[in-house]
Amino acid sequence: MVRSRTAVYITLWCTFCILLLAAFRDSTVAHQAKTITPIAQQVNNSELLSAQNDEQNHPEGYTLVARPGEASRADRPLICNTTWHPFSEDSNHPEYKHDQQGCRHRQTITCRGKRLKRALVIYMLQTKKVYDMAVELNNFDLFMNVGVFAEHESTEMFERVDYVFTRMMPPHLGKVSVPTIIAEKGNIKLMWVPSGPCDLCAHGRVIAHLGGVDAVKAKYSFLALLNGGARGPFQAAGDAEWIDVMAVGGQATWSSATPPIMVGPTVSSQVSVHIQTYCIGLHTVRLTEYYPFLTQCNNSGAGKAMCIDFGEIPAGIEWLQGGGWIHSLSANDTLRTPDDAAALAEARRRIDFVAPTHAHYDLCSALFAKFGGTFTNHVRARTAAHAAQLILFRPLNRTLSGRFLLQKLLGSGRFLSLSGGLNFTVIVNAWYGVPEVIEISKGVLERLRESIDENRGRLVVSNNLTEYFGFDPAPNASKVLAIHLRYNDEEHHLRAADGQELQFPDG
Ligand SMILES: *[C@@H]1O[C@H](CO)[C@@H](O)[C@H](O)[C@H]1NC(C)=O
Ligand SMILES: *[C@@H]1O[C@H](CO)[C@@H](O)[C@H](O)[C@H]1NC(C)=O
Ligand SMILES: *[C@@H]1O[C@H](CO)[C@@H](O)[C@H](O)[C@H]1NC(C)=O
Ligand SMILES: *[C@@H]1O[C@H](CO)[C@@H](O)[C@H](O)[C@H]1NC(C)=O
Ligand SMILES: *[C@@H]1O[C@H](CO)[C@@H](O)[C@H](O)[C@H]1NC(C)=O
Ligand SMILES: *[C@@H]1O[C@H](CO)[C@@H](O)[C@H](O)[C@H]1NC(C)=O
Ligand SMILES: *[C@@H]1O[C@H](CO)[C@@H](O)[C@H](O)[C@H]1NC(C)=O
Ligand SMILES: *[C@@H]1O[C@H](CO)[C@@H](O)[C@H](O)[C@H]1NC(C)=O
Repeated sequence: MVRSRTAVYITLWCTFCILLLAAFRDSTVAHQAKTITPIAQQVNNSELLSAQNDEQNHPEGYTLVARPGEASRADRPLICNTTWHPFSEDSNHPEYKHDQQGCRHRQTITCRGKRLKRALVIYMLQTKKVYDMAVELNNFDLFMNVGVFAEHESTEMFERVDYVFTRMMPPHLGKVSVPTIIAEKGNIKLMWVPSGPCDLCAHGRVIAHLGGVDAVKAKYSFLALLNGGARGPFQAAGDAEWIDVMAVGGQATWSSATPPIMVGPTVSSQVSVHIQTYCIGLHTVRLTEYYPFLTQCNNSGAGKAMCIDFGEIPAGIEWLQGGGWIHSLSANDTLRTPDDAAALAEARRRIDFVAPTHAHYDLCSALFAKFGGTFTNHVRARTAAHAAQLILFRPLNRTLSGRFLLQKLLGSGRFLSLSGGLNFTVIVNAWYGVPEVIEISKGVLERLRESIDENRGRLVVSNNLTEYFGFDPAPNASKVLAIHLRYNDEEHHLRAADGQELQFPDG
């Protein structure tokens, strides 16, 4: 069916879908050399402007410099404290708005002593049907902007953070039988991995590629394993860095004497207590024991179930039996023994409750949500609305500078390649209005998607925007339509002034 069309198209949409465009600022620009600026129609413009200025003042390569007290950290073992903050009821408090509408400020983590060696983040994008990539790309876009630390940047806990982004090679580009580097620089590697039954298996192959368990343990103290179905991190302006929040795992005090913690947004008790694989953080102290759960790779039809039944699920109980702890970020709950896990499972059984779903938790405390992609093709309405709201009120100072390098590496390879001979358009974001005064996304994305549909894969916008969208956000003012889209392997930022017809690709 797909092949019979001249073009394939997907529009990515959700209620407000506000996107994070900073990362694509330097990419291919069509029509006008202007990019969509980060938008939030309800975010105070002076905040926006100061954040943009901040970015200009700290161009690529900008890294955090030593903080006060840095020198004294060197020779003592690391010890960290978490301070939980009460919610401010004062509407004059500078964070009140974010507390009300975005994520509220929850915790500060302060450490003394020598930082742990690096943390490693392994992030997997899967490639199934190209239609399914839209949500993953949206998740990836958010992570690229708020999840990637720069090369020399340290956090309270870690010397630095390295990244391996992997993708199962899409069939139109061929096949690899072993992990293969696409691009590599600084703290980031992009890598193809062989197709396989599941993410845990892909993560396991990356660990083998990096020299195996001992090499990874020697270099890294903590691993974060994510797949493109995870959306986040969601955090308030002043919160502790996301990787530190995961590593401290909800403890008031963390030291090297704290048992190894495995942490995730939620704990499932389906079959047995475990952390779901879309987002797992773990201290590498027990990597040798954990690794076998990352190697349940069988490409037979039963492979996926094997990967879950012999990988994801038994890993939880094994971790506890080996003296590790499990922490659920959203419940702020730590399981310290197999008995704790049995008690949790029993308590849930009594109320006939298996795994917390999106209806049960707050995305801000969970840091990451499982959000569609090829993993759950269905996004629950409440989660979609909540996540859209959080993206809208995303504090601007949460963007991290590692995005510049990632963006550059993405531009040099075909990591995000969507399709072979087909011309494929994904609307990533769009708004209509007066720049920096009123920028409406609601309804705009849907209308553009309809247009692509009507025009067999081409985007056509007529010269009267009021007529086209059926509303006028600013009567008597001159308006603009701004669109961020991905066409095959390229990012495009388009702008059309009212009165100007837009056709993409060019007619
Ligand atoms: C895709 O677009 C290019 C021009 O951009 C065109 O030459 C080609 O025929 C198109 N392919 C399909 C399958 O429509
Ligand atoms: C926007 O923020 C600035 C500085 O934080 C403040 O002076 C101004 O009053 C705010 N405007 C609105 C409309 O909230
Ligand atoms: C952690 O808290 C304890 C007890 O309040 C305090 O003595 C210690 O100095 C704190 N450590 C750090 C690193 O803040
Ligand atoms: C971001 O802003 C909050 C207050 O709005 C502040 O506490 C925090 O230190 C800022 N973070 C950075 C990295 O500048
Ligand atoms: C994969 O699973 C199939 C079916 O269960 C089994 O016959 C086969 O031996 C497995 N292959 C490997 C490499 O484990
Ligand atoms: C999380 O749990 C700790 C106790 O383990 C408690 O002190 C803290 O207030 C809790 N935080 C939140 C946000 O509930
Ligand atoms: C655009 O369409 C609206 C509604 O049909 C109409 O009122 C308006 O005059 C048109 N604008 C232009 C510039 O033609
Ligand atoms: C737009 O202009 C018309 C005629 O010039 C005027 O009657 C109307 O009040 C204006 N609307 C707004 C919202 O300014």
